[in-house]
Amino acid sequence: MAKKKAIHDFYQMKKSKEKVTWLTSYDFPTAQFAEKAGLDMILVGDSLGMCVYGYKGTIPVTMDQCIVHCEAVRRGAPQTFIVGDMPFMSYQTSDKDAVINAGRFLKEAEVDAVKLEGGTRVVSRIKAIVDAGILVIAHIGLTPQSSGVLGGHKAQGRTAKEATLVVEDALAVQAAGAHMLLVEAVPPEVAQYIAQTLTIPVFSIGAGKECDGQLLIVSDLIGQFQAFTPKFVKKYCDVATIITDAMKAYCKDVREGSFPEEQHCYHMLEGEKQNFLTQMKDRANS
Ligand code: KIV
Repeated sequence: MAKKKAIHDFYQMKKSKEKVTWLTSYDFPTAQFAEKAGLDMILVGDSLGMCVYGYKGTIPVTMDQCIVHCEAVRRGAPQTFIVGDMPFMSYQTSDKDAVINAGRFLKEAEVDAVKLEGGTRVVSRIKAIVDAGILVIAHIGLTPQSSGVLGGHKAQGRTAKEATLVVEDALAVQAAGAHMLLVEAVPPEVAQYIAQTLTIPVFSIGAGKECDGQLLIVSDLIGQFQAFTPKFVKKYCDVATIITDAMKAYCKDVREGSFPEEQHCYHMLEGEKQNFLTQMKDRANS
């Protein structure tokens, strides 16, 4: 098994232009698959609100939910760099709340880093968490927790003026001490400029291929999430169909009496069947 990566490995990978692979996971078995597949990083994203709980968005997700899922993922992927995603209102309120909640991810779920959304407006939060000795990944561009303010889940930085703001956010979070950066739903030329300008590793989700690595949501990648598919998603398989077909086949077998078969049954121990039948007969006669 490959050695667990640490922050300096990601800096080295940026230097040697080796792409970092990053995927979300929310549960133990998926984390096991991710580790086995050789992912460099796992994000326990607040997208679990939609992908696991069926919420419309990420806003209702709580710290306690995030911690429980991070714990499960850590058990499934003990050798993978895991990032805990700070949910809405776990850091917006104050620097102190941000540090306390970031600390919970490390103390209770043994994650390696935390991620929080926002650029210039969250620099004091980033500084406070970094000062507490915690690795921080900043997240700019489309930031789903503030999609209301952004006018919906839409791409950012598509005009020169907007793109300049995204670049300013990137420079601000790096200056605040963020160790890595995620750029979401931004034109590739803007993300490329950011990746080339910043010294920290810059990852893309919907921001083109010129970044230092890519992130995707596992539920999109495997074709499990049904509500919508963002433009930047590539589906690598269709588990929704595989699972539904398997369930249909099970229902058919049960209804037809072709499941369970002999091989699925626990047989009585040698000689016990006759004893059992005798006892039942005696019982009926008493
Ligand atoms: O929660 C998540 O999965 C994320 C991605 C959308 C970037 O933050």
